[in-house]
Amino acid sequence: MSNDTLTITDNRTGKTYEVKISDGTIRSMDLRQIKVNDEDFGLMGYDPAFTNTASCRSAVTFIDGDLGILRYRGYPVDELAEKVDWLTCAKLVLDGELPTKSAVASWEKQVMADALPPPHLQEIVRAFEPDAHPMGRLIATVGALGTFNLDSKDVHSAEVRSKHITRLVAQMPTLAAWNYRHSRGLSFVEPDPELSYSANFLNMLKRGLEPNYEPHPDIVKAMDVLFILHADHEQNCSANVMRSIGSSHADPYSAIAGSIAALYGPLHGGANEAVLKMLRQLGSKDKVAPFMREVKDGSAGTRLMGFGHRVYKNYDPRAKVIKGLADRVFEVLGERNPLIDVAVELERIALEDEYFVKRKLYPNVDFYSGLIYEALNIPLEMYTVLFAIPRTVGWLAQWEEMIQDKEQKIARPRQIYTGHDERHV
Ligand code: CMC
Repeated sequence: MSNDTLTITDNRTGKTYEVKISDGTIRSMDLRQIKVNDEDFGLMGYDPAFTNTASCRSAVTFIDGDLGILRYRGYPVDELAEKVDWLTCAKLVLDGELPTKSAVASWEKQVMADALPPPHLQEIVRAFEPDAHPMGRLIATVGALGTFNLDSKDVHSAEVRSKHITRLVAQMPTLAAWNYRHSRGLSFVEPDPELSYSANFLNMLKRGLEPNYEPHPDIVKAMDVLFILHADHEQNCSANVMRSIGSSHADPYSAIAGSIAALYGPLHGGANEAVLKMLRQLGSKDKVAPFMREVKDGSAGTRLMGFGHRVYKNYDPRAKVIKGLADRVFEVLGERNPLIDVAVELERIALEDEYFVKRKLYPNVDFYSGLIYEALNIPLEMYTVLFAIPRTVGWLAQWEEMIQDKEQKIARPRQIYTGHDERHV
């Protein structure tokens, strides 16, 4: 008998079962044979919020939360941030291997040539209240984009999937920039295929807003790094939504719209906006100590935003890179965001305080990113949109993997029914 098994004794019946262990998991379906009698449905696992359930096999992203390790396709994220540009990283995440220089160049051409959404989309963007939150608008405009791409429903064709993966990566920055410009009452800037992905995004965002706007190469590099750090994060809330919607064989535009909705929440990508609001509200270092008392007290439900993570029980490696990047951005812009001092003080106290130490709460990716966006003069409401642009790559990589995985079926969890027994009117 192999040692890679689990012996379970059901004390209700005295029966013993042998369940196979592979890759540190047991198959939940192997529990179903455990019954008290023939009518019994069989044992299930109960795991609200999937805290201990592997929903798939994935080769995209590896995280060791205890050691603070994050790798895409085996490459450490900090090494990618230092050594490759954004589209190289995106292609790696999507295809599994670092592309050659010529493969990236040809994909970049393809992406930039496909960056202009259909003209009617401009009317859809203009139909929104300019004050409406850009994440809400992005959800709607990506959904609308799907209606112009009906062949994307053919999710079983690798060729069709590849075409729409490129299109979504290409058009997401344009939709983001147009939604932003609509808020400011500005005309839309069309994508410029001569610019890099990040430079083009900055250009579509800022042209005309700042006189003679020319994206500074170091700021373009910073944007590339931010995109790389946000590319994927394995089975998080929005990736799980992507896989879940995709599992019904809905088109990728609809699934991405759903993922953007999941990202919007303040416990997920919306945290970057919440962090900046928190820092602005505090305003200065002397407000930090009473605020931390409120967080620890817990009665008002106040959380230290940008801290803690379901998986990381150590410093989030992305936060480390972003903290260093912030200094570089301030240097280029010639001014230091004073809120950085408030952030550093919050971090200092948290890393020494028993409440945070005991719960292993460390800064996550969202703790410092907003400070960079603020320094770049990007309004608060756009921060989570800036997360959604690169994460589109991760969502699509997860989706492609899910579609090709023969073990996957429509996602459909079970429940423990807690309602009434049959009753009558
Ligand atoms: N501030 C204060 N206490 C916290 C925090 C925080 N930010 N995060 C967790 N805790 C406490 C929580 O109250 C609980 O305490 P207790 O054991 O006494 O009940 C304990 O730590 C465990 O927290 P949890 O809510 O069970 O952990 P979770 O894995 O369900 O939640 C999280 C993870 C990220 C939602 C949570 O840490 C949080 O709300 N952080 C603030 C929001 C944030 O920064 N989100 C961005 C996450 S990173 C980007 C992304 O992937 O989207």
